[in-house]
Amino acid sequence: MSFEAKPIDASDKPSLYAELAQQARGLLHGERDRIANAANFAALVWHALPAINWCGFYFFDGHELVVGPFQGKPACVRIALGRGVCGTAAATRETQLVMDVDDFPGHIACDAASRSEIVVPLVSDGRLLGVWDVDSPEPGRFDEADRLGMQALCEVFLHSLAQVPDTEAAA
Ligand code: SME
Repeated sequence: MSFEAKPIDASDKPSLYAELAQQARGLLHGERDRIANAANFAALVWHALPAINWCGFYFFDGHELVVGPFQGKPACVRIALGRGVCGTAAATRETQLVMDVDDFPGHIACDAASRSEIVVPLVSDGRLLGVWDVDSPEPGRFDEADRLGMQALCEVFLHSLAQVPDTEAAA
């Protein structure tokens, strides 16, 4: 397999996310292994988005969130549902857009450089799979366009896990 991430114009967020979703679809096509797709997804976003210092997954193990594939500094491993931004997104199943992490009660500081954060819950067929978390060293880095774009990107990831591999489709 060969995949080349094309440079993306980051000045227009809706176009950036549309292009990124397209690249993610291509990158994850034909593979539904969760760890493999999560790792490539995190790497793709990490190299495409400006002003971020962490992006990655926390997966729900039936009890709490456990860190999965990510890019950035080493992170805290386990997060209880309802704790921090990630645990809140998981418990409420709603995207958390945090303009200033200091204003979020219970924010868990894995990297002291993080100033703002967005966390999207990953829900498939009513089941909580985990969360997708992106941190920025800039306050107010994420806005409504990021929320819509990240949610659309996460849909691409979730769809990749449910796709029928080419080998089975041909059989
Ligand atoms: N800040 C997150 C913890 C995860 S790290 O940012 C990677 C939180 O409050 O849940």
